[in-house]
Amino acid sequence: MHKDVERILLTKEQISDKVESIAKEIDKDYAGSVPILLCILNGGAVFAVDLMRQMQVDAEIDFMQVSSYGKGMRSRGEITILKDAYLDLKDRDVIIIEDIADTCITLKGLIKKLKEYRPKSLKLCVLINKTGVREPSEDIDIDYKGFDIPNVFVVGYGLDYANKYRDLPYVGILKPEVYS
Ligand code: IMP
Ligand code: MG
Repeated sequence: MHKDVERILLTKEQISDKVESIAKEIDKDYAGSVPILLCILNGGAVFAVDLMRQMQVDAEIDFMQVSSYGKGMRSRGEITILKDAYLDLKDRDVIIIEDIADTCITLKGLIKKLKEYRPKSLKLCVLINKTGVREPSEDIDIDYKGFDIPNVFVVGYGLDYANKYRDLPYVGILKPEVYS
């Protein structure tokens, strides 16, 4: 285990089992289609490429990078697109692949934006859902969800703190002294 990690929350095996089962669900739902996996950089990258390799249906992959305006703009949920999709999403089955759902401000802004591209369908796939963060009225529909975790700060498997720890094969709770 990395010296900055307090505890492993999701092991490598738990994650790979989950990725496999989500891939099976997507295979079932998208038989006969070629969905676009729209990976949200940077955190979603590890999950997206693992998922894609477990899927049987043909899929394309594309990448977007966004940032939310920050806490002051919370209610508006506007986002800045740092990197837009390269593929034309119009009339395509699009699945957003994101690492974690926390406040969901970023995701909500992103979904609003993506609807303007008129995809045939738009679904959301999130590896980790933080519970106890959002009010019921602030909640979001996650079509494919890996794990529910409590409201703790986690790193690994794509998730970072100050751009570190993304390479860890597991998801762990960061020691508080690292960020305080
Ligand atoms: P949001 O609050 O749902 O908009 O989360 C936006 C982004 O914050 C996520 O896509 C992650 O990149 C990051 N984030 C939220 N919680 C964590 C965490 O526990 N560890 C690492 N990154 C996080
Ligand atoms: Mg992210």
